[in-house]
Amino acid sequence: MNGGVWAAPGRVNLIGEHTDYNDGFVMPFALPRTVVATVTRRDDGLLRLRSDAVGTGSAVDTVELRVDELAPGRGPGGWSDYPAGVVWALREAGHRIGGADLHYTSTVPAGAGLSSSAALEVVTALALDDLYGLGLERQRMASLCRRAENVYVGAPTGIMDQTASACCVEGHALFLDTRDLSRRQIPLDLPAYGLDLLVFDTRVKHAHSDGAYGRRRAGCESAAETLGVPALRDVPYAALAEALDRLPDPGSRALVRHVVTENHRVRRVVALLEAGEPRRIGPVLTASHTSLRDDFRVSCPELDLVVSAALAAGALGARMTGGGFGGAAIVLTERAASAAVTRAVESAFATAGYRAPGVFGARASSGALRLS
Ligand code: GLA
Repeated sequence: MNGGVWAAPGRVNLIGEHTDYNDGFVMPFALPRTVVATVTRRDDGLLRLRSDAVGTGSAVDTVELRVDELAPGRGPGGWSDYPAGVVWALREAGHRIGGADLHYTSTVPAGAGLSSSAALEVVTALALDDLYGLGLERQRMASLCRRAENVYVGAPTGIMDQTASACCVEGHALFLDTRDLSRRQIPLDLPAYGLDLLVFDTRVKHAHSDGAYGRRRAGCESAAETLGVPALRDVPYAALAEALDRLPDPGSRALVRHVVTENHRVRRVVALLEAGEPRRIGPVLTASHTSLRDDFRVSCPELDLVVSAALAAGALGARMTGGGFGGAAIVLTERAASAAVTRAVESAFATAGYRAPGVFGARASSGALRLS
């Protein structure tokens, strides 16, 4: 096989935020928005990466790199570090990649917390896996993409986004245990129940978000150490009060309270969806937002406004999704109320003097696949 076209989706996380680097539970689903890569194999050790509007606006950008010279910290920076990092991670794992021309286009909004970078990584891994016959299992592919992001790009993220892009199944949310990487596909057919899940992109990307993410992560790790557990996942919900008593400062108590209650909420949402009660997940989503806002402190005024305006207009539940400090929020609503909820959020943004949010309806879509 010499070439072809592959696609990998962005994601929203239904629930389970800032739990993946605490060995906890997450529940993302794939969006019908994808990064598409047209790829041809080459055998001269050259990697030619071309992007139409991946990452930063509309300019076409081409980057040429030599596979054998790829090393963390040596990339030019920007969008091409993600696919280059994947090739580096594949090479480091012992796979021979002779080179490739990769041309990317994308419908995943960049910088919106919808994992456009994970989609870029996963589409690259899948294309090279097929072209070079590597035979990688999907979770393994996701783990190599995460390594690219952590080590080559230098972002200390968890495993959720890459796993979502690689492993999601249409019509389902992915219930993932980030400790042992076991996963279960949970049916999520909201339209069948007369429900909509709206995604509001606040178009806000707060500065310093990367540092803040790393600090939350470090805070969780040090709280786990104080509590004498390998990760906060090991604090049972029933033992939360006792664990909080053992923590010296309010900051670490708040981090622990979020992670432990959030893991509990993920399991609650799984149970409700499996019981065919999707409306009842609304208040659980909203409780997740409150916890992220007040305890984990990763929300921002624009995300809070999506949530409060949507709830005031009758939405069943709403929360920020992804890392936070900007990006997107999800809103669960009766289909009949969708238009009114959308108008309410838009008019609240106008009144506050914020830029108009992007909005689209999300249905649980397919993970990465070969198109032709
Ligand atoms: C980002 C990271 C994920 C996860 C979320 C928060 O999306 O890439 O690994 O930590 O933030 O849940």
